[in-house]
Amino acid sequence: MPTIQRVLTGITTSGTPHLGNYVGAIRPAIAASRQPGVESFYFLADYHALIQAADPAHVQRSTLEVAAAWLAAGLDAEKVLFYRQSDIPQVLELAWLLACVAGKGLLNRAHAYKAAVEKNNAAGADPDAGINMGLFMYPVLMAADILLFKANRVPVGRDQMQHIEMARDMAARFNHIYGRQFVLPDAAIDESVATLPGLDGRKMSKSYGNSIPLFAPVAELKNLIFSIVTDSRLPGEPKQSEGSALFEIYQAFATPEETTRMRAAFAAGIAWGEAKEVLFERIEAQVAPMRSRYQSLVADPAGIEQRLQVGAARAREIARPFLKRLRQAVGLRRLY
Ligand code: TRP
Repeated sequence: MPTIQRVLTGITTSGTPHLGNYVGAIRPAIAASRQPGVESFYFLADYHALIQAADPAHVQRSTLEVAAAWLAAGLDAEKVLFYRQSDIPQVLELAWLLACVAGKGLLNRAHAYKAAVEKNNAAGADPDAGINMGLFMYPVLMAADILLFKANRVPVGRDQMQHIEMARDMAARFNHIYGRQFVLPDAAIDESVATLPGLDGRKMSKSYGNSIPLFAPVAELKNLIFSIVTDSRLPGEPKQSEGSALFEIYQAFATPEETTRMRAAFAAGIAWGEAKEVLFERIEAQVAPMRSRYQSLVADPAGIEQRLQVGAARAREIARPFLKRLRQAVGLRRLY
C-alpha cells in the first residue's frame, strides 16, 4: 500500500503577505499539494498572530489577505484542507496536553524568546519585561498545529527549524509517557529559498520592515525592488553574486539556467540598475496573473469565509476523534 504523506504548514496572520511568505511557504506548499500521495493541511495561524498584534481589525484583515494569497497562488481548496487555526478548538486543547510534557527549559531555549530576553538584559530591564506567555508558549502551540494532524512533512523557512525540532521533542516525550500517539514531523526546507533576504539584506520579515508585499501594485513593486541595497560598484565592475540580496531574490524566482546567466552577468559587471530591472520583470511575470486573482478574492470576503468554513469542518472531523483518543490516553476519562 502506498503511504500517504501529510504535508502541513501555516502562515501567521500578522500582516500583508510578502515575497518571503510566497517563496518560503506558499509556493512550495502548493507544489507539494500537487504531488501524488500527498494530503495537505494549510492554515492561517491567527492564534499565533495574537502574540504580537493587539489590533483586532489588523488580524482580521491579514487573515483575509493571507487566505486570498494562498488561493490566488493556485491552492485548490477542494483538494487541500485549508482552514483557519482558531476554527479548530482541538488545537488549543492539544496545546495544553503538550504544555504538560514540554520542559520549561526547552522553551527557555526557543530563539524568539531568548532574543527577547537578551534584548531586555542588554537594556538593563527585567529579563521578562514585556514578554507575554503567548510568545513563550509559541512553540507549544505550533507543535499542536502539527501533531494534531499527524503531519510528516512541514515546509518552513530555516528560522522555523527549531520549532519543528521542539515539536518532535514534545511528541516523543508524550509518546514515551502515553504510548505511541504522535507522528514525529520532519521540516522540509527548500535550500534555494530557505530564507529570502529583504530590502536591507536581512531575512525578509514583517518585523524588520524590509519586506516586499506579494501583491503590491506594479509601481510600488518596482520602487521597492529598486530600493534593494547593493554595494557601490559601478557599471562594468564585476559584482559578487554571493551574499547579494538582489541576486538571492532573483534566484528564488528564476530557473537554474536564468540564475546561471545572472551570475555570469554579475561577474561581467552588469549595472545595478539593469540587474534590478531584470529582477523586477522576472518577479512581475510570476506575480501579475496572481495579482488580478488576488484582487477579486480580497473583494469577496464572504466567498473566502465560506471556503474556510468548509475546510475547518473537514479539519475538525479529523481532529475530534484524535483528541478523544488523546483524552483517554492521558486519563481524562469517564468514571465507568
Ligand atoms: N511559526 C510559523 C511562521 O511564523 C507559522 C506557523 C504556525 C506554522 N504554526 C505552524 C508553520 C505550523 C508550520 C507549521 O512562519
